[in-house]
Amino acid sequence: MPAAGVSAPSGFEAVGSVAVRTFATTSHLTTAHQTMDGQHVNAMAGNEGSREPTPFADFEDVPEGHFYDPDAEYEPDPEYAATLAPDAARQRRERVGPTGRPLPYFPIPGPLTDHGPAQIIAMCNQKGGVGKTTSTINLGAALAEYGRRVLLVDFDPQGALSVGLGVNPMELDLTVYNLLMERGMAADEVLLKTAVPNMDLLPSNIDLSAAEVQLVSEVARESTLQRALKPLMQDYDYIVIDCQPSLGLLTVNALTAAHRVIVPLECEFFALRGVALLTETIEKVQERLNPELELDGILATMYDSRTVHSREVLARVVEAFDEHVYHTVIGRTVRFPETTVAGEPITTYASNSVGAAAYRQLAREVLARCHAE
Ligand SMILES: Nc1ncnc2c1ncn2[C@@H]1O[C@H](COP(=O)(O)OP(=O)(O)OP(=O)(O)O)[C@@H](O)[C@H]1O
Ligand SMILES: [Mg+2]
Repeated sequence: MPAAGVSAPSGFEAVGSVAVRTFATTSHLTTAHQTMDGQHVNAMAGNEGSREPTPFADFEDVPEGHFYDPDAEYEPDPEYAATLAPDAARQRRERVGPTGRPLPYFPIPGPLTDHGPAQIIAMCNQKGGVGKTTSTINLGAALAEYGRRVLLVDFDPQGALSVGLGVNPMELDLTVYNLLMERGMAADEVLLKTAVPNMDLLPSNIDLSAAEVQLVSEVARESTLQRALKPLMQDYDYIVIDCQPSLGLLTVNALTAAHRVIVPLECEFFALRGVALLTETIEKVQERLNPELELDGILATMYDSRTVHSREVLARVVEAFDEHVYHTVIGRTVRFPETTVAGEPITTYASNSVGAAAYRQLAREVLARCHAE
C-alpha cells in the first residue's frame, strides 16, 4: 500500500511505502537504501559489487525487478511543491510544511534603494557532499534575483563554487588566496562578475590549500578573511562564504568573518553525525573570536518527500534543533548536478523547477530572519 497521499509517479511503482523504479533486469544492481513500512533496510538486489550491509540494515529483500534510486528525477511531489508557492493567499492558509510545523508566509521582498553594509553568511558543515556549494550558488542567485547585491566567496581549495559558476579555477592568476596572503592586494583585482546580475564571485583554486599552512604563523590568523572582506562590506547586501568540508583554519576564518552560519544537512541516516563537533566549534568561535556569530539555521537538503526515511531523518533534525531548522527544505533532484555541468544556478538553468522555487523560498526566509532582528 502506498503511504497516504503519495502516489507513484510515472516510471515508478508503489512498493511498501515508497515509490521504486522498475527495471527489466536486476543483474547489475548494487546496494541501495530502502525504506519499507517505516523500516530502514539495505537492499541487496543482485550481488555483483555488493557491499557489507550497513549496521542498521534489518531487511534484505527487495521484490525482484525493483530498486530504489535516490537520484532519480521524480515528478515533483505536488504536496511538497505546494509548500514552496510564493503565493500569499495560498501560503497564508494554515499549512504544515515539510518540517511538520505550520508554514509561515515569507513575503516577496521589496526593492532596495541603497546597499550595504553586508550581512556575512558562512555555509558550513565539515561533512562532505551535503549541499554547501549548491546552496551557496542558489541562495546567492535567488537573493540577487530579489535585487540584493551578493558576493559569493569560494573558500574551498577544490574551487567547486567557481566551477559551478562556469569559471575554470586552473586558469585563474588571482584568487581569494592572493587577497588573503598579499598585503595591498585590492579586492577589485580578484573579483569576477558572474552571469547573474547583482552577483559577484571571489574565486579560488588549489592555491588556497597553501593558505591553511601559511596562515599558522600570521598575526591574528583567524581574522585574515574578515580583514580582507572589510573594504567590500559597503558594496554588498549579502556575502555568502562556501566553506570546505573541514573544521580547519580556513573554516574558522569564515566563522570569524561571518554574522550567521547556515548548516546544510543531507536528509540521510548519518546526517546528525559530527554536528555536535560543528556546534562546539561555532560556540568556541562565538566565545573567543566573534561574539556576533549566530547559528542562523539548519537547512535540510536532498529531501525526498516520498520516502519514509527522509521524513524520519527530517523529524529527528527538527527534534534536535527545533526552530533553528529552516521551514524551507530542499528536495532531491538531478537538476542540481546538471546545473554544475551547465555552470549556472538553478534559478536561471531551470527557472520554473521545484529546485529553483525552493531556493527562492529559502532566500525569502533568510531575508525574513535577517529583518526580524
Ligand atoms: N538537492 C539536491 N538534490 C540532488 N543532488 C544534489 C542536491 N544538492 C546537491 N546535490 C549534488 O550533490 C553533490 C554534492 O553537493 P555539493 O557540492 O553542493 O555539496 P558540498 O557540501 O559543497 O560538498 P563538499 O563538502 O565536497 O564541498 C553535487 O553533485 C550536487 O550537484
Ligand atoms: Mg562544496
